[in-house]
Amino acid sequence: MMDTQAPLLRVCGLRKSFRHGGKDLPVLRGVDLTIERGEMLAIVGLSGAGKSTLLHVIGTLDAPSEGRVEFDGVDVARMGGRELAAFRNRTIGFVFQFHHLLPEFNALENAMMPAIIGRVPPAEARERALKLLGEVGLGSRLTHRPSELSGGEQQRVAIARALVMEPRLLLADEPTGNIDSTTASGIHELFFELNRLHSVTMVVVTHDDRLARKLPRRVEIRDGVIVDDATAAACGGAAPSPVEGSKGGEAPTEVEGPAADPIPTG
Ligand SMILES: Nc1ncnc2c1ncn2[C@@H]1O[C@H](COP(=O)(O)OP(=O)(O)OP(=O)(O)O)[C@@H](O)[C@H]1O
Ligand SMILES: [Mg+2]
Repeated sequence: MMDTQAPLLRVCGLRKSFRHGGKDLPVLRGVDLTIERGEMLAIVGLSGAGKSTLLHVIGTLDAPSEGRVEFDGVDVARMGGRELAAFRNRTIGFVFQFHHLLPEFNALENAMMPAIIGRVPPAEARERALKLLGEVGLGSRLTHRPSELSGGEQQRVAIARALVMEPRLLLADEPTGNIDSTTASGIHELFFELNRLHSVTMVVVTHDDRLARKLPRRVEIRDGVIVDDATAAACGGAAPSPVEGSKGGEAPTEVEGPAADPIPTG
């Protein structure tokens, strides 16, 4: 049952290993993280620390090897593949460093895509996409294909697309990694604006110190564990145990998703 008292997201005892070359490579080694509704936080850390891996597991694109990821107090591991894909489409927006826009579709069509896949009526999908593209400053570029847009413009289309399902959680992985600093500042402002306008909770992985310093909360991950987070996670000991058998020693399974899912990057 959904628990409205629970935080939006609670990650407890999260471990993630990848099976590689016949060995288990531990990447996340016990992460506890609580994120409240409407929060904006930066995840920082050196290359290879496990930031993208954490984002993929939080985003339900990848399953934990151990531990739980709960939305509104509900363990996402309890959802089946199709239910999980629908949940993800409705609840979570993704922005990756490489935006994966579809080259044969224009800005408006790209921004509408998750809503079309999520069976929002086309007229409403179009209206939402138009409004968001206006908010990201692309009202005059609606019919441009990705190849006819600048890098920063393409990224803004990706942000509009990530918000078209009115997700409760936006996960961004190096959203300004490929963008000049002036355009990046504009996108940072946009994130704050969208957080205010839509009260979207935002988790942003970034190497951009200026952005990390502007966000109210900064979580540093080092070698697969959180080393710096002023907010203590409330995992406690009384949480329900995971479904029997879900902690087996097999290699973690990739979670299947609909075609709308962006392809996770590095
Ligand atoms: N599918 C995989 N199979 C094996 N190892 C992987 C896989 N995905 C990631 N890793 C390893 O896990 C570690 C963490 O990767 P991750 O992408 O989470 O790092 P990151 O903190 O996002 O780094 P960066 O800042 O460079 O993006 C890396 O050492 C990487 O080689
Ligand atoms: Mg990464």
